[in-house]
Amino acid sequence: MDVIDVITAKRDGRELTPEQIDWVVGAYTRGVVADEQMAALAMAIVWRGMTRAEVSRWTEAMLASGDRLDFSGLARPTTDKHSTGGVGDKITLPLTPTVAACGAAVPQLSGRGLGHTGGTLDKLESIPGWRAELTPEEMRRQLRDVGAVVCAAGGGLAPADRKLYALRDVTGTVESIPLIAGSIMSKKLAEGTGALVLDVKVGSGAFMPTATAARELARTMVEIGADHGVRTIALLTAMDTPLGRQVGNALEVAEAVEVLSGGGPGDVVELTVTLAREMLTAAGLTTAKDPADALADGTAMDAWRRMITAQGGDPDAPLPAARERRTVLAAASGTLTRLDARAVGVAAWRLGAGRARKEDPVALGAGVTLHAKPGDPVRAGQPLFTLHADEPERFDRAAEVLADGYEIGGEYDPLPLVIERVG
Ligand code: URA
Repeated sequence: MDVIDVITAKRDGRELTPEQIDWVVGAYTRGVVADEQMAALAMAIVWRGMTRAEVSRWTEAMLASGDRLDFSGLARPTTDKHSTGGVGDKITLPLTPTVAACGAAVPQLSGRGLGHTGGTLDKLESIPGWRAELTPEEMRRQLRDVGAVVCAAGGGLAPADRKLYALRDVTGTVESIPLIAGSIMSKKLAEGTGALVLDVKVGSGAFMPTATAARELARTMVEIGADHGVRTIALLTAMDTPLGRQVGNALEVAEAVEVLSGGGPGDVVELTVTLAREMLTAAGLTTAKDPADALADGTAMDAWRRMITAQGGDPDAPLPAARERRTVLAAASGTLTRLDARAVGVAAWRLGAGRARKEDPVALGAGVTLHAKPGDPVRAGQPLFTLHADEPERFDRAAEVLADGYEIGGEYDPLPLVIERVG
């Protein structure tokens, strides 16, 4: 098989054969196909798309690139959620221990930041001592003892996605239904969850800006899940504005801890509770404790502390803070009618919260604090954003993108937080 033939076939809009797909995914994982060749193929897929049969085979090939975990012997049913990625989307952090506190086990393999969106592992790594890499045996033990684990796909799990995810992040090839579906579903099928709730983001901060594209992504993934015997449903949820008021790794962990303490921003709490209920229902736990009660009575917080401690983290340690801060003031008075999720995500990225190259570290304390959300009244001269960065020279470029990312006055037309259910 010749990689150039595979790239040019897709470049010219032809359907790839199952043999071509199996070969190229396997050869890339083994290092026989080079990064630049895979980047070219990924770009051709972004432009040309894939048929349902190709997406299904692509996912199979990604799955077959590594091991598949099996947690069917656990006393609790397993259930998981995966978000297609957003800005300020720290929901996994309060959600996972909340669902564990309600009686299910959550075996979550997570990713790192991708493009302008944050990654759960980068966020959790801001907790001193916490480690993302676990063996399957450690995962199983933690699921049995704590009921929740969030970790990296270990060396043997979906290795094709691990490589391709990092490559797509730095080659402008994230926004593609087949590539996102294959990436997410190969990880979720490999982790061995029995049920899956997909949080498919819609809006400027999502990889799928329109509900039509998000619905197609949701349907594609729900079908792949069903084909593999995993009860899968999807919610389309709003990502026109960031979730919560903190965007950036350590900043988001602090906000998640507020939610686990029974407080926190309303949108983060509502989405956490909604997704937790869906996860419990998908796992067949229809009479379980209600997630809102687990947040209110401290049992979700207890599960969080156990989950962090089990992975070497100190839940009481101070979180890293950026060395420098700058406040951006509102330019006018009125109602904040738009606060663009992508602009805030790009600003956080420029402040150091995301990566420019795949081997870059992230600045754990960097990010943006939002002092107002759409619908809030603001006065000229009041703080609108606090920017956090280790190097002050990053502030101007972040402030520049934020200047176009909000509007005071004009029409206020927010998306509902939960737009639609698929599956
Ligand atoms: N999340 C993933 O795991 N993969 C993608 O491609 C996009 C979001």
